[in-house]
Amino acid sequence: MGNQIKVRIAENSQAAANDVASEFARAIQCKPSLILGLATGGTPVEVYRKLVAMVQNGQVSFSDCTTFNLDEYVGLAPDHHQSYRHFMQSKLFDHVDVTAEKTHVPSGVAEDLYQECEDYEAAIRNEGGIDLQLLGIGENGHIAFNEPGSEVKGRTSVVDLTENTIAANARFFDTIDHVPRKAITMGIGTILEASKIVLMATGRNKATAVARALSGGPGADSPASYLQSGEDVTFVLDADASSELPDALIESAEFIF
Ligand code: GLP
Repeated sequence: MGNQIKVRIAENSQAAANDVASEFARAIQCKPSLILGLATGGTPVEVYRKLVAMVQNGQVSFSDCTTFNLDEYVGLAPDHHQSYRHFMQSKLFDHVDVTAEKTHVPSGVAEDLYQECEDYEAAIRNEGGIDLQLLGIGENGHIAFNEPGSEVKGRTSVVDLTENTIAANARFFDTIDHVPRKAITMGIGTILEASKIVLMATGRNKATAVARALSGGPGADSPASYLQSGEDVTFVLDADASSELPDALIESAEFIF
């Protein structure tokens, strides 16, 4: 069992994004060659917007940073407008001073996807591991694309997406039939090796998954609950995402208003 997960609760999603962006900027200022683990989805968009502003006004620089993204859809080329590589380029990489070769997103169109997974793990290992990992959470408790039932020791692999995840992500595609059915994802074991993990969740639709992840012990029904065995994990929530937390967790949380 790791150390207790720290919980910070912000008034709203903007304040939560400010908090996470400031934490990431501070970490980069302290160690300019930081190895960052990055996430996609609606939740971190505002964090990236704030980091872009900080880079553009000279507060922080990504020039020595290396980044590893959590996951990518199988079958989407890097320039596909819904690929996670494209997301990262348009939300962050194209607007900051990061070195292109130091940004890593698994390739969903590699000829040998299994080799791609092994190479991705090796690339993380070669950099000495991830210093600071950003995570979101799915409504079903998934982290990256590790769906309920995933192995706690899992490494980067090709996985099937659940109907629930396909439906949740359909909002980004023209129709639900365009949503890929498979993805490459870092495993829970890969994620847990990061020195520090920050999970951000906003909105009422995440409240049940957040409450389960933080209470009731680690279990396969909630991949995010395995973060309870992490050494240095913080959840940054807005008030809506914290609305189903048990009283004891609310009392021990830090409020950032
Ligand atoms: C996606 C991603 C996850 C993300 C989650 C929540 O499917 N693979 O990394 O955290 O779902 O996404 P959102 O922030 O859009 O709610």
